[in-house]
Amino acid sequence: MIERVMVTGGAGFIGSHLVDQLIAMDVSVDVVDDLSTGRLANLASARNRGLGLLSFHQMDVRSPALVQLAKRRKPVVIFHLAAKTDVAQSMEDPFEDLTVNLGGTLRVIEAALAGGTSKVIFSASAAIYGDPPAETLPLLESTPLLPMSPYGASKRAALDYLDVYRKSRDLEYTALVFANVYGPRQKGSAEAGVISIFAERCLAGRPCTIFGDGTQTRDFVNVLDVTDALVRAMDNGGGLMVNVGTSKETSIANLYEQIANAAGCTLRPRMLARRPGEIDRSSLDNGRAATQLGWKPFTSLEVGVADLMDWYREHPEEYATKRNRRADEESAPK
Ligand SMILES: NC(=O)c1ccc[n+]([C@@H]2O[C@H](COP(=O)([O-])OP(=O)(O)OC[C@H]3O[C@@H](n4cnc5c(N)ncnc54)[C@H](O)[C@@H]3O)[C@@H](O)[C@H]2O)c1
Repeated sequence: MIERVMVTGGAGFIGSHLVDQLIAMDVSVDVVDDLSTGRLANLASARNRGLGLLSFHQMDVRSPALVQLAKRRKPVVIFHLAAKTDVAQSMEDPFEDLTVNLGGTLRVIEAALAGGTSKVIFSASAAIYGDPPAETLPLLESTPLLPMSPYGASKRAALDYLDVYRKSRDLEYTALVFANVYGPRQKGSAEAGVISIFAERCLAGRPCTIFGDGTQTRDFVNVLDVTDALVRAMDNGGGLMVNVGTSKETSIANLYEQIANAAGCTLRPRMLARRPGEIDRSSLDNGRAATQLGWKPFTSLEVGVADLMDWYREHPEEYATKRNRRADEESAPK
C-alpha cells in the first residue's frame, strides 16, 4: 500500500477530486498548487476528512523549491496535474504555456529523482493528437501525435521528456490522455468546460451559444472515472500512454438538449459560426485502459449530468455569482 504521494495542481478541478479519493484511501497527500486557477475551497472536504493526511503547499511547480519539498516529503508517487489548460490562452501566450507545462514537468521529474519517487503519473490531453481523420475514431494511442496548439505541443514534448528520463534514469511514468473531463468544481472557462458553461447558464436562465451547427462531437468522461484511472495508474501502465475516455462521441447539440432538459430550461441556444481551428469530432479508444489499468468508465453521461445538476443546486453560488459577474458574456463551448 502506497503511503505518501504528491499531487501537483491538487487544488484544481481534477486534482481536488483525486485528493478526495486518495484521502479516502488513507494515503498522505502533499498538494502543490499556485492557486492560479485552483481554489482552496476545492479542498474543503479533503481538509475536513484528512486531518493529518493532507498538506497544502502554495508553490509554483516551476520553482526549485519543489525539489527541496520532494527531498523532505519523499512521495512514492507524484501525480502531475498542474498546467496551463486553456488552449486559446496557449495561442496568445505560448511562452507561459511552455514554461508551466514543459518546464513544470521537467521540475517535477527533477523533484521525483531527488525525492526517491518511484513513479510520475502525468496528465496528457487529447490535444496531443490534433485533428485526425474522422474514420480513425475512436483514437488509439498509436495515432500520430500532431498537436494543433501550443498547449497540445507542450503536452507532447513533456511525454518525450518522461520517456527520456525513464530510459536514462529509470524513473517510471504513466501518461494518461484525458478526453473531455466534466463534473463538479470545473470552471466554465477551463478546457472542455462546455458542460459547466451550459449548466451554469441554463440554471441561471441565460441563453447558451453553440458555435457551428452542433454536429461537432466530443468524448465526455466523468471526473470520478478519471480519478479512478489515476489511482489505478499508481500500480499499472508503466512506460505507457493510456487513453482515458469513453470511446463514444456526443454531439454538442445533443449535449445541450440533455443539459437544458435536466435544468428545466426551454431557451433555444444561439447558433454562431464555427470558430477557426476547432476540431470537428473527438473520441478516445479505451481498450488499452481496460487491459493495462483494468479501467472502464462507470458513469453514463446521463447520470453524470444529473449528478452535476444536483451539485449545482446544492451550490447556487457557483452559477448565481456568475450570473451577475458575467452578465453579458458569451458562453463558449470548447
Ligand atoms: N479538464 C479536462 O477536460 C482535461 C482534459 C485533458 C487534460 N487535462 C489536464 O488535466 C490536468 C488538470 O486539469 P484541470 O481541468 O483540473 O484544470 P485546473 O485548471 O482546474 O487545474 C490545474 C491546477 O494547476 C494549478 N497550476 C497552474 N499552473 C501552476 C503552476 N505554475 N504551479 C503550480 N500550480 C499550477 C492551478 O492553480 C490548478 O489548480 C491538467 O494538466 C490538464 O492539462 C484536463
